[in-house]
This record gives sequence, structure tokens and C-alpha cells, in this order.
Amino acid sequence: MLDQVYRKAVLTVTSNPNVEKIVRARGKGLVKRFVASEDIPGVLRAAKELEQDGIGAILDQLGEFIDSPEQCNEFAQQVLDLIEQAHAQGVEPYVSIKLSSVGQGKTVNGEDLGLTNARRIIRKASEYGGFVCLDMEDHPLVDLTLAQFRTLVGEFGNKAVGTVLQSYLFRSLKDRDSLDDLQPNIRMVKGAYLEPETVAYKDKADVDANYRRLVYQHMKAGNYTNVATHDEKIIDDVKHFALIHDIPRDQFEFQMLYGIRRDLQKDLAMQGYRVRTYIAYGPAWYPYFTRRIAETPRNALFIVKGMLKG
Ligand code: FDA
Repeated sequence: MLDQVYRKAVLTVTSNPNVEKIVRARGKGLVKRFVASEDIPGVLRAAKELEQDGIGAILDQLGEFIDSPEQCNEFAQQVLDLIEQAHAQGVEPYVSIKLSSVGQGKTVNGEDLGLTNARRIIRKASEYGGFVCLDMEDHPLVDLTLAQFRTLVGEFGNKAVGTVLQSYLFRSLKDRDSLDDLQPNIRMVKGAYLEPETVAYKDKADVDANYRRLVYQHMKAGNYTNVATHDEKIIDDVKHFALIHDIPRDQFEFQMLYGIRRDLQKDLAMQGYRVRTYIAYGPAWYPYFTRRIAETPRNALFIVKGMLKG
């Protein structure tokens, strides 16, 4: 419950334009801890550094609040450029996209523009042996995202595209069951948005219990599972679960965010687990950054202390 109060307070304060102005002016250096770069060369450099520690990368061009179809197409083109440049530099083109950024919900030429642009991106990534994960946004977008995911797996296969389920949503276990016929590659997360109590668990213990259920069921069903959490207790439990159920290490991976629990990421890679870090980049970093601050007071303290130092 306290987590929810903290999250709501941070997201409310940071949505104030004056706060945004101050953070943009004074917090840029500190933001680098969580947002690797504003451009493609910078994000590819970060991916190569991780590679030296045996850690893969998920490349995420930030682009929330993109409005017109033209902006959506332009954003999709930037993701295509990213894939081209990643391939050219020997970085695996494993990208994550938010369908809303590429036109989800906008009909152009009789089709949802998000679906059209997702196709372009998946086609390009597949050409280079890459992968595209469809991020999950807030709850009104879940139905459409899962329907579009089903369409895209039908067209490109489950090795080319995956999606995300959030354990704070009551519906996610049923959603997982309903996707099972696709043998889908799914990233399990707890969920990062401010959701009403009509649709989401509010207590952390419930969110965590549901997280374990989602991961275990997905693994047991023989599906590739991306265990995207920094929760060390859950990570230990998943390692144990895999061991006692003979789930091979190439059927799951741990995923974390850039700049968070770097020690744990390295340790897991050294223990021989697959590990991938989600690297967000781009000029539109502010909403992503505020969600990270909303996740734990420790991050808010880190930023405030840094800004006070000047
Ligand atoms: P939880 O919040 O319970 O924290 C457990 C412990 O982890 C904390 O005690 C702390 O030690 C550490 N920790 C967690 N967050 C931290 C932070 N920001 N800074 C420092 N320490 C931290 N969400 C979503 O809604 N849609 C999506 O598509 C995605 N995609 C995604 C991809 C990847 C690779 C990851 C890792 C996460 C996401 N998320 C997401 C975000 C996710 O929903 C969630 O908000 C964060 O992962 C934080 O939750 P944890 O599971 O880490 O645990």
C-alpha cells in the first residue's frame, strides 16, 4: 500500500511542468545512470560494454506522447535505423517497442497504424536474426496489444516477436493461459503504471505472489520466459524452480533495467545464466526516468542529493 502512495506522489509531482524543467536543466548528468544516451551511437556503445560482461541488450528508443500518424511513422523509421546500425556494428538487434509510439489506435489505410509499423520493424529485425518485444503499457491497451501480438506471431513466428505481462493486473494469469497455444516468448514484469484498484493488485505481496505464479506456469508450459525483475528473492526462487523442474538454462533469461542492480546482473551472467539489460535511450527520456524514480525511494534520494550538490 505504501508503495502505491509513494508511486502516486512521485508521478504526480514529476508531471508538474516546472519540476520537469528543473530536472531537465539540473539533473541531466544523473539521468545518465538510467538512460544510456540520447542517440544511437551512445546506446550501441553501452550495449557493447555490457557484452564484455556476457550480458545482452534490449534496445529501447524512447518515444512516449507521439501524436500524429506522421510522428508515428517517423518514430518507426528511427527504430528501423537503430536496427540497421546495430546490425552494422555487430550488436544483436533485439529491440523493445511500445505500440502506441508507432501508431496503435490510429487507423490509416483501413488498418491500425501500430500493427503496420510493428510489421515493418519485426521484418527488419528478423532479417538480421534479431527480436522485437512489444512492451506492455497501461491497462486500456492490453486487449489490443495482445490481439496484435497474436496476429504478429501468426505472421512472423514466436522466435521473432514477444510481449509482456504485468503481475499487478488481475487478468494476467488468464491472458497467459489464453496465449499458450502460441508457445509465446513472454517477459514477465510487475508493472510500472498507476492503475486503478478495479483492475490491479495494490499490495506488493499480492503482486509478488502473482509474479511467481506467472513465471512458474510459463516455464512449466515449456515456453521461453523472460524474468524481468530486480527482486533478488524472486530471482533466487526462479533459479531453484528451474533446477527442481529440470528447466534448461536456455529456456529462460533474467532481464533488468540499465543502471539498476549492475552487481546482480554481472553475478548472474558469471553464474552462467542468460542476462539481458534493457537500455532506454533518446531525447524523450523524461517519462521513462520518472517511472524509475517512482519504483523506489532510493532512486529519488540519489537524484535529489545529486541535484543539491549542483
Ligand atoms: P520491485 O519493485 O518489487 O523491487 C524489488 C527490488 O528491486 C527493490 O527492493 C530494489 O532493491 C530493486 N529495484 C526495483 N526497482 C528499482 C529501481 N528503479 N531502482 C533501484 N532498485 C530497484 N513495466 C511495464 O509496465 N511494462 C513493460 O513493458 C516493462 N518492461 C520492463 C522490461 C524490463 C527488462 C524490466 C526489468 C522491467 C520492465 N518493466 C515494465 C518495469 C516493471 O514493471 C517494474 O516496474 C520494475 O521492474 C520494478 O519492479 P521489480 O520487479 O524490479 O521489483
